[in-house]
Amino acid sequence: MPIFRCFFKTGRHMSEISTIRKIIGIETSCDETASAIVEDGKKVLSSIVLSSADTFSWSGGVIPEIAARRQIESVIPVISASLREAFNASKNNKLSDIFDYAIKEIDAIAVTVGPGLIGSLLIGVETAKTLSLVWQKPIIPVNHLVAHIYANWLSDSKTPQFPLIALVVSGGHTDFVLMKNHDNIKYLGGTRDDAAGEAFDKTARLLGLPYPGGPAISTLANKFINSKSSAEVLNLFPRPMANTKRLNVSFSGLKTAAKNYFNNQKPNFSVNRLAAEIQEAIVDSLVIKSVIAVETYKPKSFLLAGGVSANKRLREKISAALEKKTKVFIPNPKYTTDNAAMIAGAAFYNPKPIPWQDIIANPSLSIDE
Ligand code: KG4
Ligand code: ZN
Repeated sequence: MPIFRCFFKTGRHMSEISTIRKIIGIETSCDETASAIVEDGKKVLSSIVLSSADTFSWSGGVIPEIAARRQIESVIPVISASLREAFNASKNNKLSDIFDYAIKEIDAIAVTVGPGLIGSLLIGVETAKTLSLVWQKPIIPVNHLVAHIYANWLSDSKTPQFPLIALVVSGGHTDFVLMKNHDNIKYLGGTRDDAAGEAFDKTARLLGLPYPGGPAISTLANKFINSKSSAEVLNLFPRPMANTKRLNVSFSGLKTAAKNYFNNQKPNFSVNRLAAEIQEAIVDSLVIKSVIAVETYKPKSFLLAGGVSANKRLREKISAALEKKTKVFIPNPKYTTDNAAMIAGAAFYNPKPIPWQDIIANPSLSIDE
């Protein structure tokens, strides 16, 4: 059993450490507990994600108190699993041996500080602070929304070029940003009401599908798309704000439209068709505004990011609409939804350690803060 002292002397200032290459990322902003080791912002040595989403399949959304309780139990096992995998440690190695690897090999600790659920964020943040003190490693605070964008760097094939436009589509956010370099993010527009992921989750709940709604809607929608004739057009629901140049979208009307359609079912009603119409309305709204963003700002790259970027239809339609206009980047599907590799990746390109005493969880952090 390792025995830790209650007080540690702080030696050299953490920010004095010059070469930061191997970073451990810790992510607990919503219902996932995740830890990953990433080298040079690209090479993922390990990535462990433990989700409690199955706990909430009946409720239609995350229950913060339950999510946080699950995270408190799993955060250290998930961190040690990520270290074990990255350094090929034997199953017989004790926690103290695993931590010795970390002390020897890890250059910095990156942790999500927001936005997210306060109880969940605090678990990651307090754990990272403790490890920073025990391991004597610098700690780098990371904005979860910005980190989603950095999932696009977790690949050896090609690297995004600045200036770039990124569209972050997650469960709580739909944000267009312009990045002139790693340090310069400008918010350009986004949703006026529900986020894209929220639109999937809420309409799925309406159809009696489990949480998270995006994968559930998309499975039914793909069945319809694969079986439909080419003459059938998916345009049942409106694409609000499509006629303005502003980079704003709106999804709250879709809920009501889908609800009315569902409650007034015609004899030929098909739930697969309804799912496909919902998906198409969300995807088209995002594609229309992405084209406007690229035509207006003429970026060298366009980056899609966030949980909704796992959506096959969105990936296909956004690539087709933009491929002649700019270079399009879409993360590997395993790094689209919440994970810690993107947290470590973002920290590598923005290596600004701060004293552990100054790290504060901020549930309402915005993408350009
Ligand atoms: O980025 P993320 O994992 O968590 C947040 O930061 O919110 O995004 C979660 C969201 C959920 O709303 C989920 O329904 C949606 O991403 N999502 C999808 C798909 N996979 C996850 N939406 C559409 N199609 C998918 N395949
Ligand atoms: Zn996320």
